Amino acid sequence: MNKTAKINFEKISLPKSGTLVLLTSKTSKLSDLAKELDTNNNKFISQAIKAAEFKHAKSSILEILSPIITEPKATKIDRIILLGLGETKDLTNIDWRHIGGALSGHLTSKKIEAATIIIEDETDPENTANLAHGMILRQYKFDKYKSSSSKKEDDDQETHLQKVSIQSVGATLAKKHYTNTLSAVQFGVFAARDLVNEPANILGPNEYAKRIKALSSLGLKIKILSDKELKAEKMHSLLGVGEGSRQGSYLAIMEWKGAAKSSDQPVAIIGKGVTFDTGGISIKGASGMEDMKGDMGGSATVVGLMQTLAKRKAKINAIGVVGLVENMPGGQATRPGDILTSKSGQTIEVINTDAEGRLVLADALWYTQEKYNPKYMVNLATLTGAIMVALGKEYAGLFSNNDELADMLVSSGKETGEQVWRMPLGSIGSSYDKLINSNFADMKNTGGRWGGAITAAQFLQRFVNETPWAHIDIAGVAMASKKTAINQSWGSGFGVDLLNNWIAENFEK
Ligand code: BES
Ligand code: MN
Ligand code: ZN
Repeated sequence: MNKTAKINFEKISLPKSGTLVLLTSKTSKLSDLAKELDTNNNKFISQAIKAAEFKHAKSSILEILSPIITEPKATKIDRIILLGLGETKDLTNIDWRHIGGALSGHLTSKKIEAATIIIEDETDPENTANLAHGMILRQYKFDKYKSSSSKKEDDDQETHLQKVSIQSVGATLAKKHYTNTLSAVQFGVFAARDLVNEPANILGPNEYAKRIKALSSLGLKIKILSDKELKAEKMHSLLGVGEGSRQGSYLAIMEWKGAAKSSDQPVAIIGKGVTFDTGGISIKGASGMEDMKGDMGGSATVVGLMQTLAKRKAKINAIGVVGLVENMPGGQATRPGDILTSKSGQTIEVINTDAEGRLVLADALWYTQEKYNPKYMVNLATLTGAIMVALGKEYAGLFSNNDELADMLVSSGKETGEQVWRMPLGSIGSSYDKLINSNFADMKNTGGRWGGAITAAQFLQRFVNETPWAHIDIAGVAMASKKTAINQSWGSGFGVDLLNNWIAENFEK
């Protein structure tokens, strides 16, 4: 569905026609090749730079149309694009991605179909691969529900860029890093974005479970528990959320065994998969409710990540667990005041049926910990509006019972640009924790007006025993996300790259 450009990594050779992209920087200004073209052809490049007051700033672009090049030989290049790198020495992989994203956005807006990018000097091949990665991430779009006439109307929505040749000295290594690692990340990120963007009438729990089942073709072992099995497992907290829906509720388990020893303790990733959140009987207001089709963002990240791990044959044992439910009002729906008995045996008074994500995760976490004895457990969820009040749309909120795990995740966040900010979590019995004590049951599912993201995390913690665990609240970053140079999609796929990096850096080396 996603038509992205074909990227070739090649040795440097001046193209004879088409669009040529040359990199420039504040420090070295023009590259050797650009200098040579410039001096041999009446300084056309330096003149253009002067006329446009081009400052080589990061991701800035200067187009030189129809350059007349006669030396060293006449070419029919119809456009030279100077792409600014800013200060070259402190460019990270993330910077290179964003520069690639900006370039690919520009090429698309100009309806350019093919381009040659020449990367001279000793640019790290990993950086080169990340430039390509950013170009592709930028190209993602979700237009499967637009018929061709409306696609034609917004013409720049159409894919134009089809072929990119990236030429560099380290082409072989760049290609290797790109195909072994980054293309697997793209695959998982695109899969996650697709799931988040799907409307809830198409992607309800039934269809979602089917799509997960089909992932066995990638070498993942899939197990789906449906209503009957969930009842047998006593997961009445999760089941309570789906009571008002005509669709089934599910727990889907994806297993990847890539470690040398198949008995190695796995890492487990758990996701909230509320395919639509009306709020239930505590129904939400109409304004913006359509966004609640994205309330399965946490599960999409898990499903995307498992695909990335399978694609790149990660050397780890990993378990992905997602709770799939639809939160609807209805004659059978759970009411405020109802008391649910979770799989753990702990009882929950439902104060607000709109605090449903934690009810799903409570049973999913308990089940995962009991059944798979993971060495680490990380859950992702679009859990609270309160996390956006706290952190905006820049950071996801991180809560953890384990400093070492939290540090690993913060550092992976910095390396991937999917940033997480650690938030406070009190121990059981602490003042934060006490806010969810109930008069009628072991706990209630809301903690009052203040610190809503924290009391939600406190609730989850009551379903985790000794396992090092982290909860990432992605309500602000998974959907209706900020548009960036590498993501123009409503559903961002946040967390696939982050957790893939966490696994690669900490368990595969
Ligand atoms: N899915 C929402 C949280 C959410 C809100 C995600 C906006 C993305 C954008 C969650 O289920 C919810 O409704 N949370 C309530 C909890 C409250 C009732 C305690 C909230 O945040 O208002
Ligand atoms: Mn809700
Ligand atoms: Zn929700």
